Amino acid sequence: MRYPQEIIEEVRSGNDIVDVVGSFVSLKNSGGNHFGLCPFHNERTPSFSVNVDRQMYYCFGCGAGGNVISFVMQIENYDFIDALKWLADRINYHLPQPHQSAASLQQSQIRDTIRKINKTAARFFYDSLQADTQEACAAVKYLDTRSVHPKLRVSFGLGFSPDSWNSLMNHLQQQNFSLPDIITAGLAKSRETKGAYDRFRGRLMFPILDIDGHVVGFGGRIMGSGEPKYLNSPETPVFEKNRHLYGIHVARKARAKEILIVEGYMDVLALHQAGFRQTVGVLGTALTPNHARLLKRINCTSVVLLMDNDRAGREAVLRGIPVLLEAGFKVKVLQVGDGAKDPDEYLQMHGAARFAEIIQHAQSHIAFRIGLLRDTYDLKNTEQRIMFTQKAADILAGLNNAIECDVYIRETAGLTGIAPEAIRVEVDKRRNIPGAVPRDRPGLRYNMQGARHNKGQIKAYKGILSLLFAYPEAGQAVQDGGFLTPEEMGESIMADLLVIAFENGKKGVVANPADIIARFDKLEEQRQAAEILRDSPNFENKMEMEKSLNEMWRVVKRACISREILEKQGSDMQEINALLESKKNVENKYIRIFNQPTA
Ligand code: CTP
Ligand code: MN
Repeated sequence: MRYPQEIIEEVRSGNDIVDVVGSFVSLKNSGGNHFGLCPFHNERTPSFSVNVDRQMYYCFGCGAGGNVISFVMQIENYDFIDALKWLADRINYHLPQPHQSAASLQQSQIRDTIRKINKTAARFFYDSLQADTQEACAAVKYLDTRSVHPKLRVSFGLGFSPDSWNSLMNHLQQQNFSLPDIITAGLAKSRETKGAYDRFRGRLMFPILDIDGHVVGFGGRIMGSGEPKYLNSPETPVFEKNRHLYGIHVARKARAKEILIVEGYMDVLALHQAGFRQTVGVLGTALTPNHARLLKRINCTSVVLLMDNDRAGREAVLRGIPVLLEAGFKVKVLQVGDGAKDPDEYLQMHGAARFAEIIQHAQSHIAFRIGLLRDTYDLKNTEQRIMFTQKAADILAGLNNAIECDVYIRETAGLTGIAPEAIRVEVDKRRNIPGAVPRDRPGLRYNMQGARHNKGQIKAYKGILSLLFAYPEAGQAVQDGGFLTPEEMGESIMADLLVIAFENGKKGVVANPADIIARFDKLEEQRQAAEILRDSPNFENKMEMEKSLNEMWRVVKRACISREILEKQGSDMQEINALLESKKNVENKYIRIFNQPTA
């Protein structure tokens, strides 16, 4: 189940939304509302607003919205319980142990346990590397041959897993961790017959830490050659490869505006050693929006993709570019060359000074893409030259910066011998196609439980709920008169909201919108609720309010009846007739909240 509503409300109200959001997004105050760039989509002008009174945020660009709990869920990828814990911690609020059985609560206990197991294991691997054994000495020697400085071994907590079937398992069990938990942590594998064995044996160990310094998983490299070269922790309740970046806990301390992303563990170490502490590594996966969100948290604005000098590396870059752009980063690309296959090799061969130079010349992502494109066409051939120009125009049309665009148009012109003016026309054409590049607005696409309501109807649904929340007396009148029931609203969040509005009506209270949102566990529901609760309705006087209520009610009621008729289609004609009749009667009804002044 979940925490009692009062506790949720205490934690919620103890965390001012402007403070919390302000620690992730820079906000400007403008008359009660705070504005900033939305952290959930790419934008140049602020459409993200935070309202102090309502304790809500809302983005007019992408439709993201909710209360402070939703914000933490959305930005940290937490579920409801974890977001609540995070907020409770923030204000030193002691959350009571809620009545057990909560599936999600159990989940977060498992996560705590696994983090502890991982931490203990990391310590074990670290100590094993310092031990006075033959294999530990060999491991140290291997690190030396790869020029990994002892200081780095400490800051990255590098370790060694002894070549044994159970040394880690025994150690963890001595510390009172259970075998099933050790297996869940991915550190041991169960045998088909009985018992289990250590997953990592005889490997150099790279602990993977999250941004807060928890050990979430491990990578283990075989020493010398052999297969697989790297063995990684499997997915566990605390580890998903596509959510973590190797080295982020150290890189964040560099406080750099521009971050370097590389492919390998060894590349991260080499770059840190060469003084580029702002480096993180992807863990053998493609860049995902989760990675981008993580980077937002360390306040960088620009990313250099430093991929291996091979086809896989180039493809990874091409796939990573849109992900980072979408998240609002400036993106540059650098592929090392000069005989080196990856940044680590480059540094070993050419040194840090030369690396610092080439990093200055990282290409913009546009130049990189156009360069790759060029390589696939034979520019001596007229037809191919035209095709190349068309494709290049596609890329250039995505560029917002006019000066940059001009530079690349000239460059493309130089490559093809096509006049820059002609290319510009092509680029402009691609920009002006109406509706050609609609911004993806996942938030605005939903409709209620799949029912096809038109704009006016949706507006009325939202309007009536928003009114009922602001005027409990209206809620009571609607409920007492049986004008609208939650059942009629169907299986949607609208139905849930109506239930809450009726509750408030009975009690005669106006609840804080943020607390209404806190009744929902799922982010999407919170977002929909936020959309409805965003503004408080404003009326000249009570009679205006009553009039507006009735107007919206008629629209909503008719839409509800139409939906019911649709659902009943093919069944009892009598029932359908009754519904049709009631639809007609909507006109003749009036919800009276106040006594009419005598004329
Ligand atoms: N990787 C992996 N499993 C493998 C091979 C690679 O998970 N079998 C991931 C690792 O995160 C690795 C990254 O992909 O760091 C890049 O691979 P590669 O370039 O081969 O590794 P390097 O870090 O360059 O390692 P080394 O220099 O020691 O060969
Ligand atoms: Mn390498």
